[in-house]
Amino acid sequence: MIMKKYNNNDFNINNINETVTLYGWVSKKRNLGGLIFIDLRDRSGIIQVVIRPENECYDVASTLKSEYVIKVVGTIKERESKNLNIPTGEIEVDVNELELLNKAKELPFEITDDTTALEDTRLKYRYLDIRRNEIKDKLLTRHKITMAIRNYLDKEGFMEVETPILCKSTPEGARDYLVPSRVNKGKFYALPQSPQLFKQLLMVGGVEKYFQIAKCFRDEDLRADRQPEFTQVDMEMSFVDEDDVMNLTENLIANIFKSVKNIDIKLPLLRMKYDDAIDNYGSDKPDLRFDMKINDITDIFENTNFMVFKNVLEENGIINCIVVKNASNNYSRKKLDELTDYVRKYKASGLAYLKFNDEITGSIIKVTSEDEINNIKEKLNIETNDLVLIVSGKKKIVKTALGALRCKIAHDLDLIKNDDYKLLWVTDFPSFEYSEEENRYTSSHHPFTAPKDSDIDKLINDKANCYSKAYDIVINGYEAGGGSIRIHDEDIQEKMFEALELTKEDIDEKFGFFVEALKYGTPPHGGLALGLDRLTMLLTNTENIRDVIAFPKTASASDLMSEAPNKVDNKQLDELSINIKKSE
Ligand code: AMO
Repeated sequence: MIMKKYNNNDFNINNINETVTLYGWVSKKRNLGGLIFIDLRDRSGIIQVVIRPENECYDVASTLKSEYVIKVVGTIKERESKNLNIPTGEIEVDVNELELLNKAKELPFEITDDTTALEDTRLKYRYLDIRRNEIKDKLLTRHKITMAIRNYLDKEGFMEVETPILCKSTPEGARDYLVPSRVNKGKFYALPQSPQLFKQLLMVGGVEKYFQIAKCFRDEDLRADRQPEFTQVDMEMSFVDEDDVMNLTENLIANIFKSVKNIDIKLPLLRMKYDDAIDNYGSDKPDLRFDMKINDITDIFENTNFMVFKNVLEENGIINCIVVKNASNNYSRKKLDELTDYVRKYKASGLAYLKFNDEITGSIIKVTSEDEINNIKEKLNIETNDLVLIVSGKKKIVKTALGALRCKIAHDLDLIKNDDYKLLWVTDFPSFEYSEEENRYTSSHHPFTAPKDSDIDKLINDKANCYSKAYDIVINGYEAGGGSIRIHDEDIQEKMFEALELTKEDIDEKFGFFVEALKYGTPPHGGLALGLDRLTMLLTNTENIRDVIAFPKTASASDLMSEAPNKVDNKQLDELSINIKKSE
C-alpha cells in the first residue's frame, strides 16, 4: 500500500476540484435520498465523502459500518449545507473509487467526544478510546511538550543520556518494584524510582549537562495525580547553584507554555519559602489562583474564656482561620456541617465559624467576647456577608486542614478560572522531617540534598531547624517538579548519613558505590525533575492523570486491557527459584 500522504484537515474550500486520495475510518454513515454520506475520520479530523448511486463502488459503500477502514479517491466539491464547526465543513469529497481495507467488529462504545462509556470500559479497549479526540489530542499535546523540551535543552547544550531500568534500589522514599534475577538466584533488581544516583554519577563522569525523558516506577498508593509508572523530565547540571537551576527550569517551562499553548508566562517566577507557604496556604504546593490566605488569630484569644481555645493555647497550639469573602449566605448549617466533616479528615478536631451579616452569628458567638469578635473584624478587614472559618489545635494539623479547606471552598464557589496558570517556586525546604513511625529524622527529599551553607552544623545539632537547597516548582496547586543542589563534599555527605542514623553497613550496602564515586573529583552539581504527566495534565486541563497516558494503570495498579499484572507459569517461577506463599 502506498503511504498515506494527506490528512483530512489538509483540505478546505481552496482545494475545490482537486482529486484526492484519503484513508481513514467510517465515523458515521447516512443514506439520504439514495446518496451515501460518510464522515471519514483520520487522526486530523473528519471530512464528508459522498457516494452516488451510479458509482461502481455504491454496493461496497452500502455495506460499510462504523469503524470500517477505507480508502477513497474523489474530487473536492463545495458543500451545499455547510458545517462551520469543523475545518473541512465547507467541502465534501465526491467519491470515484472506494476500497474497503478492513472491517470492524461492533464496538463496545461509540467513538464520540462526549462518551458515556465507563472509564473501565474505555481502559479495557484503550486503543479505541485513543481514537476519541479527547484522548488523542492530549497525547498530541504530550508529544508537543516533549518536543519543546528536547529542542530547548539541546539548544542549551544538554545531552540526553539513558540510564538503566534494572537497578539497585535508590533511597527515594516510596516502595520499590522488584524484578527477580534468574542468573543470580535469590537476588532482585529494583525498577528506578528516579534516575537520581545515575544522573549524579553522570556529573562525576563529566557530562556537565544531562537530561532524560525517564520512566520512573514507584509502588505507592495511587491518587488522581499519581501513577505507579510515570515519566520525569530529569535534569542535572554541574557548576550551578540554586538560582541557575531555577532560572533554566523556569525558562524551559515558559518555552513549553509558549510553544504548546501560546501562553506567555511572566518571568522570573515568584519564590516562596517553604515555611511561608505552610503558614499562609497550609501546603508546600499552594494554589495561588485564588486568595483566601490562612490568618493567624492566636493572639486575639490570648486571654479567652472559651475553653476549647484556652486548652489549645495551653498545649502550645494555634488558632487560625480563613475568610471566605462575601459568601456567608452561601453556607447553610448543613453545608457548614459538611465542611466540618471535611476538616476532620485532616485530623482537625472541629471547625468554628462566624457569619458577619447585619447580625454576627456563628458557632462560637456565645462563647467569645465582644472584644474578640471586634478584633477579628478589624484584623481581617471583615465586610458584610464574610464567613470566617476557624480551626484550632496543633500547628501541623491546623495548617493542613485549613490549606485543604481553602482549596475545597475555591472549587465549591467556582473561584478558579479555566486556563489560568499560577506558577511559583517553593524554596528552603527543611532538610528533615520527623518520622513518628521510625522515631527518627528522615530526609525530606533524599540524602544527597545539600543543606544551606549556614546550616551545615545543624545537620547533627539542630535537625529541626536545618534547611536545604531544595526547590519545587508548583503550578496551580500541583507539584510539577522538584530538585536540589546536591552534596558534593564527602565530609558533608558523611554528616548527612550520620544525621539520618545510617550505620556504615547500611551505607555500604545501599549506596557504597555512590559514596565511592564522590571521592574522585565530583563537581558541584544540582538538578531537578519535572513530572511530565502532571505538566501535560495542567496543559490539557484535566485532573485525571490517566487521560494523558496512552496505556495507564487503574487505582489498583492494573492494566485492564492487557490484564497485567498476571499469574505466571510454575516453570517461570522455578527458574527464578520463587515460591508463592499461599494466601490465607
Ligand atoms: P520527585 O520525587 O519530587 O523528585 O519527583 C519529581 C516529580 O515527578 C512527579 N511525580 C509523579 N508523577 C506521577 N506519578 C507519580 N507517582 C509521581 N511521583 C512524582 C512530580 C514530582 O515533582 N530525583 C528527584 C528529582 C531531583 O532531585 O532532581 C525526584 O524524583 O511532578
